Amino acid sequence: MSNPSEAELIHMFKGIPFTTRSSPELLKSLDNFDAREDDVLLVSYPKSGTHWLAGVITKLYNAQVTITSPIEFGDISKLEELNKLSSKRIIPTHLDYNMLPPNFKNKKCKMIYISRNPKDTAVSMYHYYRDNPNLPTVDTWTAFFDLFLKGDVVCGSWFDHFLSWEEHEKDKNILFLFFEDMKKDLCKTVKEISLFLGLNVSDNDIQDICKKSSFSQMKSDTEKENSDPSHTVCALTSNRKLIFRKGAVGDWKNHFTPKQNRRFEEIFNEKMKLSKM
Ligand code: A3P
Repeated sequence: MSNPSEAELIHMFKGIPFTTRSSPELLKSLDNFDAREDDVLLVSYPKSGTHWLAGVITKLYNAQVTITSPIEFGDISKLEELNKLSSKRIIPTHLDYNMLPPNFKNKKCKMIYISRNPKDTAVSMYHYYRDNPNLPTVDTWTAFFDLFLKGDVVCGSWFDHFLSWEEHEKDKNILFLFFEDMKKDLCKTVKEISLFLGLNVSDNDIQDICKKSSFSQMKSDTEKENSDPSHTVCALTSNRKLIFRKGAVGDWKNHFTPKQNRRFEEIFNEKMKLSKM
């Protein structure tokens, strides 16, 4: 069987490439989404550590919540499906701030935005494109590098996504996290998340959560479980086994040529000149 064409896998919505796993009807209807005050949003650009964060949050809440599939994943029946959930909802999304259903903003729902060095994000995304049948074929790292810098990849430009959220960095209901900080001191970040969510978690429990959230533990837990289609927090795959690749900081150094690095830095400095991060 031949590979599906790019047009079968990707469509544009408001200038941003989405996979066909996010139907245009659903994307159009998001503005009417009925948020609840106690919803928690888990926000990221793809490949920034979304599953890691979701794993930590599940353990922090100790099974009293439902982590839904991403709000932009599925067809028009999605909103009704989320409406029917009676438990507290943790809702993942890769949407940029401007596309977020306004109700989440009006109700000041808690939101956690996780970000990662965009060079590592680009490398992680390149491997994801290669392994994930829901994404178009990319032949080489060089070709993908150009697409990433142009924002011609699913969810659009990393820079636009990050900047749209960074504008709201001071909002009290938004917590900004970095993948690299989690690598450096996971317990510190887990504590920060628990305070932000208003959870009372003992230091012992935090240590236990960190142990269970290590890359090797999460990877081996995933390998043991049967794939469940509703089991990812990424709108781009239902296969958790594609998520846990290396889990490292600095893998970009194994991919970027010196010339690519210079080009990336130039574009980064230009696009991020107004950024405070
Ligand atoms: P790599 O491809 O660099 O290995 P997302 O969940 O947003 O799709 O992000 C996936 C990235 O997070 C992958 O990066 C994956 O390996 C990494 N990751 C997932 N769980 C992790 C963990 N427990 N510790 C460190 N990295 C993790």
